[in-house]
Amino acid sequence: MSLAALLAALPIPILQAPMVGASADGLALAVSRAGGLGALAAGGLAPDEIGPAVAAMRAATDAPFSVNLLMAPEAAPDAAEIDRALERLKPWYAELGTSPPAVPNRFAPAFDAQLEALIAAAPPVASFAFSVLSEGQVEALHRAGILVVGTATTVAEARAWAEAGADGICAQGFEAGGHRGHFLEGLENSLVGTLALVATIRATVDLPVIAAGGIMDGRGVAAVLALGASAAQMGTAFLLADEAVTSTPWRRTVEAAGHDSTRLTRAFTGRHARGVENRFMRLMHGAQDEVPAYPVQNRLTQPLRAAATQADDPEMISLWAGQGVGLARPGRADEQLRRWWAQAGDAAAEVAGRTKRGDDA
Ligand SMILES: Cc1cc2nc3c(=O)[nH]c(=O)nc-3n(C[C@H](O)[C@H](O)[C@H](O)COP(=O)(O)O)c2cc1C
Repeated sequence: MSLAALLAALPIPILQAPMVGASADGLALAVSRAGGLGALAAGGLAPDEIGPAVAAMRAATDAPFSVNLLMAPEAAPDAAEIDRALERLKPWYAELGTSPPAVPNRFAPAFDAQLEALIAAAPPVASFAFSVLSEGQVEALHRAGILVVGTATTVAEARAWAEAGADGICAQGFEAGGHRGHFLEGLENSLVGTLALVATIRATVDLPVIAAGGIMDGRGVAAVLALGASAAQMGTAFLLADEAVTSTPWRRTVEAAGHDSTRLTRAFTGRHARGVENRFMRLMHGAQDEVPAYPVQNRLTQPLRAAATQADDPEMISLWAGQGVGLARPGRADEQLRRWWAQAGDAAAEVAGRTKRGDDA
């Protein structure tokens, strides 16, 4: 089956965004069972955890689902860079009554081994962010019957994925919560909003487009479908879902977040990501360009964020969320999904009514 056919056959063309730290198998299952496409966020999983996670999803539902990997580069930072980074983090760790971690052997799971495990596990769909696969890697996924979705933040990145043989593009607009997926150019040249990105990729690349970034309800879903997207991908809108594993202080922050409360920061992970601004982001703002690149800084701040979560302190946690965060609402994921799809129908009917009145005039 082609990706276009799979998306067209979904009872509800809404994809749950993979969200390391906020989505686990419970949310993915609830979304797939309700007629959307759930996603396992496997970016942080060790290679040998991927097979069992995919097998558990397959055992729990006949509905399609996807698995997401983050293409972290192999990191080989020098000792002096690590020392400087740990020194900078020391006061933050001290505030929580702990010391910075010992220098780890690895900074992220090995991508090649994760990919091999994913191919062996053969989920229906796999999505990737932070880089582009080689043609050979895409062919290997296809041989295993896996449909491939590449994340793009610009038309050039969408073209790169098309050239590698991907089946579809996840167009990630500037509004999106979490890490930016840019990989060809720096941040400042990769900040296209969802509306322009979906329209321009649709105009230039002959692949199904999944729109992501700032879609918070059925009106947003209708808007991106009207633009020509085959489906909408929603992340922030699921952060308060009953099945999300969003931590208590993070959930509280999302519930209380006003509009205009998110910022991009490189300080937590060494890669730009969008979240609700807190004290760590504010005070580290000036140093954010000096921290080691992802995944090194990500690994060095992980114990800090875990300790802050344990201490119920949102000021030192990466509170990833998109620009629409003020519209996130709690509830069961299946009910949210059905409500958004009904809203999308109402929004489309409203627009059709208006355009019809225009014809009559
Ligand atoms: C908490 C959080 C974690 C995320 N983790 C991932 C991830 O593991 N892999 C990925 O490809 N995208 C990740 N994203 C980005 C989403 O896939 C998607 O692009 C984004 O949520 C869409 O924008 P929205 O948050 O405005 O809905 C994450 C987003 C959030 C909010």
